[in-house]
Amino acid sequence: MSGTERILSAEEAVTDYVLAQEAKDQLRFLTCGSVDDGKSTLIGRLLYDTKLIFEDQLATLEKDSRKHGTVGDEIDLALLVDGLEAEREQGITIDVAYRFFATDKRKFIVADTPGHEQYTRNMATGASTADLAVLLVDARQGLMVQTRRHAFIASLLGIRHVVLAVNKIDLVDYAKDRFDDIRTEFEQFANGFDFESLVAIPMSARFGDNVTVKSDRMPWYDGPALLEHLEAVEVGEHELDAPFRFPVQWVNRPNLDFRGYSGTIASGRVSVGDELVVAGPAKTSRVARIIAPEGNVSEARAGEAVTLTLADEIDISRGDLLASPADRPDVADQMAAHVIWMADEPMLPGRSYLLKIGAKTVTATVTEIKHKINVNTFEHMAGKTLDLNEIAFCNLATAAPVAFDPYEVNKATGSFILIDRLTNATVGAGLVWFALRRATNIHWQALDIDRQARADKLGQTPAVLWFTGLSGSGKSTIASIVEKKLHLEGRHTYTLDGDNVRHGLNKDLGFTDADRVENIRRVGEVARLMTDAGLITLVSFISPFRSERQMARELMGDGEFIEIFVDTPIEECKTRDPKGLYAKAERGEIKNFTGIDSPYEAPEYPEIHLNNVGRDPEDVADEVIGYLKDKGMIG
Ligand code: ADX
Repeated sequence: MSGTERILSAEEAVTDYVLAQEAKDQLRFLTCGSVDDGKSTLIGRLLYDTKLIFEDQLATLEKDSRKHGTVGDEIDLALLVDGLEAEREQGITIDVAYRFFATDKRKFIVADTPGHEQYTRNMATGASTADLAVLLVDARQGLMVQTRRHAFIASLLGIRHVVLAVNKIDLVDYAKDRFDDIRTEFEQFANGFDFESLVAIPMSARFGDNVTVKSDRMPWYDGPALLEHLEAVEVGEHELDAPFRFPVQWVNRPNLDFRGYSGTIASGRVSVGDELVVAGPAKTSRVARIIAPEGNVSEARAGEAVTLTLADEIDISRGDLLASPADRPDVADQMAAHVIWMADEPMLPGRSYLLKIGAKTVTATVTEIKHKINVNTFEHMAGKTLDLNEIAFCNLATAAPVAFDPYEVNKATGSFILIDRLTNATVGAGLVWFALRRATNIHWQALDIDRQARADKLGQTPAVLWFTGLSGSGKSTIASIVEKKLHLEGRHTYTLDGDNVRHGLNKDLGFTDADRVENIRRVGEVARLMTDAGLITLVSFISPFRSERQMARELMGDGEFIEIFVDTPIEECKTRDPKGLYAKAERGEIKNFTGIDSPYEAPEYPEIHLNNVGRDPEDVADEVIGYLKDKGMIG
């Protein structure tokens, strides 16, 4: 046995993966379990028993085990992996650590991820390419919620091979009955998952029983040791047989004579002379050259990082998907997908996120949660929002059409991540089921009288004056004076006021975060229609979330959206309390009241920042009118 053990970034891992492909058959697997199931010990044991730990690491380990170990005189293998984890934390942030080891028969890549976050993290960083999942359970505890969840996610991810590692069998005296019970329960549970292979192995990672070699302490077990199974299990190379897909990561244009498209082949194969199509615009060309790290090659395949040049000059940008014309991906701006939520902040339908699929990033919203899935019973449940670790089947809409395949057909081009637009954190991961066709059949109706014509007729520059601030801050009072002043000047205006719109269009909405998001989404759309009609539109809504105010801003043309922060401190609002609502909220009679038990996110860069404490509202309104005059929006 030979090999090295190192931690690589995801990118390096891919490069290594490519190189290794050439040499030897290999298996990618991931390990999952609850926190104390012994995952670290198991990985440590595999590495230790295959003699892959560097000698110096080994020396430290023996010393540390004596110092901190919880296992008496033996080496605490968990310390090894945990030690590496600490090392990893000091380095650049990577989501998944890949550990490599090899035997005479196979090379192995283990995707190892920290703690209980592992399944979601794995997914986001491409461990969905794993061929096999090792699910650990503690023989004393049996199946846990986590075990079921991981099995479900493994199946959702299309992992076809599963090992149920019934660990810590030494702590139940190597009892066959206990093992049989757990195995039977799991087999019944996993019945509907369609795994190609499911092998349960009783083991003790701590003592090495049935990890790399068969243990003689369980004569009743006639199956393989874990490593034997990992060496023998047959997994297909699905991504090689799938149609050609190449997400363009960047357009390589060092000078006018060269134009190449660089990226990693997501699936299939490509040869010089092959016809390719750009999904979406559907322009075709032929492959002129394939440039690999070692130079020109005549063909390349899934997993390889290459630069392609084409025979024709066609317009291709970063994020485009090149595909084989015979088997094209879907191109749509609406899709149905499973979404796994990974953030503490809940997912709110209607909120805009960034969706990254392949090399393309677009803004997107979840338009509807069709159902949430209870991962223990697989029951479908209704839901308005998604919390951390919840999974739901959703409809999504993207701001522009994107190219993709159903996940079932192609894992690489059928999975996406959702990114928070303000923090840039990855908040969700998704698996596409199908494109929704309804949008494709609705076309934008081009009207002869356009927004410019309407604005010209009214003789004004349309704009949205978006007043945001706490309840009782004076938004409506100021907006109303501003409207009167504009009106007197002969301007055409309309005011959308929270209290009023909630009596009609938005009467179905309450004050949960999700409802407020929808409230603002709708009013943003209405305000946009009104500016389209040429009006100066005044919007007076608490609109407590930055994210939705940003979304409203993006609906309007450049310079059209004027955010006006009515910055009245909450103490002052409470004193004014024109509708007696603060008093009620403080008595607990109203829930989710802004500023009391529901947040208000103040604008960071409003166009106008109004302070109206102790001021005549007329003067405050004049400040707004002054701004519009300065900008030349009114005369
Ligand atoms: S928003 O947060 O969704 O933008 P909106 O401006 O439509 O709120 O409605 C706010 C008005 O509803 C307040 O001015 C107040 O009169 C009333 N209201 C009733 N309950 C609440 C609540 N829980 N939080 C805030 N406002 C409430």
